[in-house]
Amino acid sequence: MIRFLIKDTAKHVGEKLKVSGWVNVRRAHGKILFVDLRDISGVLQLVFVPSNKEAYEKAEKIRPEWVIEVRGQIVKRPENMINSKIETGQVEMSVDELNVLSESETMPLSIETDGYDIGEEVRMKYRYLDLRRERLKNNLIARYKLVKFIRDFLGNEDFIEIETPILTKSTPEGARDYIVPARLNPGTFYALPQSPQQYKQLFMVAGLEKYYQIPRCFRDEDPRGDRQPEFTQLDLEMSFVEREDVMELTERMFISLVKTLYPNKKIQEIPFPRITYKDAMEKYKSDRPDIRKNKDNKDLLAFCWVIDFPFFEKTDEGGWTFTHNPFSAAKPEFREDLLNKKNIEKILTSQYDIVLNGSEIGGGSIRNHTAEALEKVFEIMGYKKERIQQNFGHMLEAFKYGAPPHGGIAPGIDRLISILQNEPNIREVIAFPKTGDGRDFMMNAPSEVDKKQLEELHIKIAKKTKK
Ligand code: AMO
Repeated sequence: MIRFLIKDTAKHVGEKLKVSGWVNVRRAHGKILFVDLRDISGVLQLVFVPSNKEAYEKAEKIRPEWVIEVRGQIVKRPENMINSKIETGQVEMSVDELNVLSESETMPLSIETDGYDIGEEVRMKYRYLDLRRERLKNNLIARYKLVKFIRDFLGNEDFIEIETPILTKSTPEGARDYIVPARLNPGTFYALPQSPQQYKQLFMVAGLEKYYQIPRCFRDEDPRGDRQPEFTQLDLEMSFVEREDVMELTERMFISLVKTLYPNKKIQEIPFPRITYKDAMEKYKSDRPDIRKNKDNKDLLAFCWVIDFPFFEKTDEGGWTFTHNPFSAAKPEFREDLLNKKNIEKILTSQYDIVLNGSEIGGGSIRNHTAEALEKVFEIMGYKKERIQQNFGHMLEAFKYGAPPHGGIAPGIDRLISILQNEPNIREVIAFPKTGDGRDFMMNAPSEVDKKQLEELHIKIAKKTKK
């Protein structure tokens, strides 16, 4: 007998079916036993009567979270027992046969509630149980649908999805790198990518024109509600475009995504308003302004763009550093100043950030596609010729062979989906996130490694510091 998904059972009243899943609850009503059985698709009420002795006796023993398989007839529920809230609320199964597939000990955490009030340590240690929770299951399904929507949307726009390396070289995205020792070259290290920024630009040099990827990015920062050490971007890059083109595509994609997947949500303003960095700071005292007209309305989505950021800011040591991305081009009217290294404090970058309800959900820019302009950025930051060559020589070299003008953007998937799902925190939309202090309680990572592993890598731990 084939297994039916619970959601499909209501269409088979009168038929004998097999279903399997987890025991939600068992309750007695006089002599009759009721069990709510749960699978990925829904919940079905099972009914056991004493006259079917064998199944009844087995049902008396089963407990929450046991995995069972049952066969029986799908019947309409009596009028007064109908539950109109769920798809299968009209029916129940009158069980003929029950098999226990797997037993469960008492659960270390409750999965019936939304779970917000349960301690993080226990939720993360038993994340695979935490994920049985309806809310988290729905978040993962919503995330899958969102990523699928993006893939379909960009596919229709002639983008191609291309993977880039995880073992790579340090890139200057502004955060600390995670580094990986290279056994075959003792004393040297790979870095995990903070983003695929340089690779995607090199795809443009390669003539691929429209690239995207849903990459994992790694940044050794202190985790916060909207920050994880590893997170997911929608990374994209396009050739022969200007700022308007990238912003138009992004905006169209977000509008279509909300209309398709979240039809109950309302976008406050279309086209998305554009606010200069200066105005945002003056009016909202933030470069990611929350412009919602009503913050109580959970279905209101206030997108806006923040543009015209200063390219450089003073460092504590009195030099210059980039505010966003060293690969960005200056706005066209400041390109001469950049090339002449003049009026540095006034140069505005082509950077655009997209903000949703006060959260920065993405950022991008038009890039410097000439070696000369890119080199000037590093010179302004005071990098010596040698360092420029060592760190970015490959980019400068690549730009010698016909680099098209290009630009792109990278929305943060975790932040976007957490806002759409009305979650307070990106950990709620990531299957296996790290805790606030960057740990994985389930796998017990990070952890020490064997002495032998360290020896192979020619690594000595200088001094152990315990927290
Ligand atoms: P940026 O550094 O602005 O740009 O990152 C893009 C978007 O990624 C998300 N994000 C994060 N989400 C969760 N945890 C984090 N630690 C984290 N850090 C960033 C944010 C952010 O807006 N290469 C450029 C993009 C480009 O210019 O095309 C980049 O990575 O939503």
